[in-house]
Amino acid sequence: MIALFDSGYGGLTVLKPIMEAMPEYDYLYLGDNERAPYGNHSDEIIKEFSEQAVEYLFKKGAKLIIFACNTASSVALRHVQEKYLKGGEENERKILGVLIPVAEEAISITKNQKVGVVGTKATINSKTYEKEIHQLNPHIKVYSKACPLLVPFIEEDWHKKPEAISILKKYLKPLKSCNIDALILGCTHYPLMIKDFNRIMGQKIKVLQSGQITAKKLKQYLQNHPEIESKLGKNKVKTFLTTGDPAKFKEFTEKHFGMKISTPQKVELS
Ligand code: DGL
Repeated sequence: MIALFDSGYGGLTVLKPIMEAMPEYDYLYLGDNERAPYGNHSDEIIKEFSEQAVEYLFKKGAKLIIFACNTASSVALRHVQEKYLKGGEENERKILGVLIPVAEEAISITKNQKVGVVGTKATINSKTYEKEIHQLNPHIKVYSKACPLLVPFIEEDWHKKPEAISILKKYLKPLKSCNIDALILGCTHYPLMIKDFNRIMGQKIKVLQSGQITAKKLKQYLQNHPEIESKLGKNKVKTFLTTGDPAKFKEFTEKHFGMKISTPQKVELS
């Protein structure tokens, strides 16, 4: 099965386009809602939470884990890849992140070589997007802005409230004056406010979400890696796990993603 991991609801913005592009596989989604947001934690804590998630998902039989969470991808992906995929296991199972495909897409669409990135504090402080972009093209100017209040609003399902929109405007104001022509939503929760991002940034700035981009790249990846693809179950089974409130998870998912799901199982990671 393909497992997706996120600190909460955000990874559903990645799961949905992946499932639409590749409906044939079995999927397992783990949201660590109880401990969200991750983005205000130290790197050590984010690594610890990510290790717990990886161990849990491998035990459940995942052959491919996608770190849908940008925060975990930025801070802990290399660490867990080194810890859990050593000793020839890389042909048996994989852990992938979402940052590189999005960085590649931003580089391919920017015309003026000025790209903005918004994300959690941990993602922005890690400078991972900047590093990935500069590795591919050192001439691109990257303007970053941490937006730490957005994820708590989204996890509470308060992101349509005027308070959330006015906070978003404040966060985006400095980026608007940088003359960027592409903005990376470097947090999987933010697409839940995509209409507001688009309206505030205006038509000239292309707002990039990781979901569709990751789905496209994952499809190519599986075509190129039959050793992993052949191990994925293809019974269209979809399982949802949360460390938070299962009823709230079901309600949020059905309301914002239009997916009918069975009540998730509540799990403990720590
Ligand atoms: N949705 C996650 C991300 O993409 C994490 C947000 C958080 O828990 O702070 O960064």
